[in-house]
Amino acid sequence: MRFPIPDNIETLRPYVPGKPLGEVQREYGLSEVVKLASNENPLGPSPRALAAMQSAMGDLSLYPDASCFELKRALAEKHGVTPAEIVVGNGSEQLISLLVNTFVAPGDEALIARGSFITYSLAIAAAGRRAIEVPLRDWRYDLPAMARAITERTRLVFIANPDNPSGTIVTESELLAFLEEVREKHPALLVVMDEAYVDYVESPLYPDTLALRAIHPNLVALRTFSKSLGLAGVRVGYAILDAWLAGYVERVRLPFNVSSLAQAAALGALGDVEHLEATRALNRTEKPFVLRGLRALDVTVVEPVEGNFALVDTHRPGREVFEALLRRGVIARPLLNYGMPTALRVTFGLREQNERLLAALADVLAAVPRVKN
Ligand SMILES: Cc1ncc(COP(=O)(O)O)c(C=O)c1O
Repeated sequence: MRFPIPDNIETLRPYVPGKPLGEVQREYGLSEVVKLASNENPLGPSPRALAAMQSAMGDLSLYPDASCFELKRALAEKHGVTPAEIVVGNGSEQLISLLVNTFVAPGDEALIARGSFITYSLAIAAAGRRAIEVPLRDWRYDLPAMARAITERTRLVFIANPDNPSGTIVTESELLAFLEEVREKHPALLVVMDEAYVDYVESPLYPDTLALRAIHPNLVALRTFSKSLGLAGVRVGYAILDAWLAGYVERVRLPFNVSSLAQAAALGALGDVEHLEATRALNRTEKPFVLRGLRALDVTVVEPVEGNFALVDTHRPGREVFEALLRRGVIARPLLNYGMPTALRVTFGLREQNERLLAALADVLAAVPRVKN
């Protein structure tokens, strides 16, 4: 079939997701497989989220509430904002796309960090907009260099905080210095703080984006139910931004982007503070356990870590290490599509999963020879 595929689509590389459990079980004939590839919640979803979904099942012949009225009201209360400052998406990745399509006109640019979350560049390229990329420096956002890269055509900056896959953070003082610097020179610039892993942060230096919006109204906060709230499969995320700007995103958003089951699950999860606390407590014990285990191996770990995962340079071909781990029933995440050929990202799981990961990795490192990098 012949069809003129637009250039920006022709050059897109498909996203490589974490390998699904079922696929690995089938391919390798394993019954016990541990998935530590996609930064999911090892405790699973909140029972309240599941109960809320169950009660929403009776209405599945009806369209969902296109305005996400109840969910926005609950989120507004949680964050001390108005519902008009909230846009709900089918996962926060949909909001990344919506922000690009709404605020970056053809010919304008979005600024991102090379080595950070790859979905930003995919969304920008898919929309046919231009991305300016500034490399991470020592696995951290180089905000001074990013400030220098802004032009009069730059409309959006994406900052993953904590960053994925490095797990590092931008501190409040770094963010403030950046915001002050760009405020005068670039008044038409939105700074998107993607806070997917916010609930895992332990550093006191982490910025309070929602509070900073009072002095920097060009800040946009992105949050998701996929990580600490354990609902990656139902797809809900949201953006908090200036109400007038949010109105434009609402015009671009297609009406029924968040299913009724997803809205119900999100509302249920918001009401389950104990589940969130258990999730955070688990990460507080498993993070140091895994990091200690990794440090004892022949790898380099990026630290300090503020998420529920670690980036590990294995000094060996990432694909080989990944496949050898698969054969041992452990799914980690190779980062070849991030331009990191020897790196692996591992999510912190339950204690027995982490023990399994560390034992398998020790085994694999002994079997796969080191390369120079
Ligand atoms: C930094 C960051 N932002 C956004 C997302 C997307 O999350 P979701 O679309 O599931 O809300 C992820 C998921 O891996 C992420 O790591």
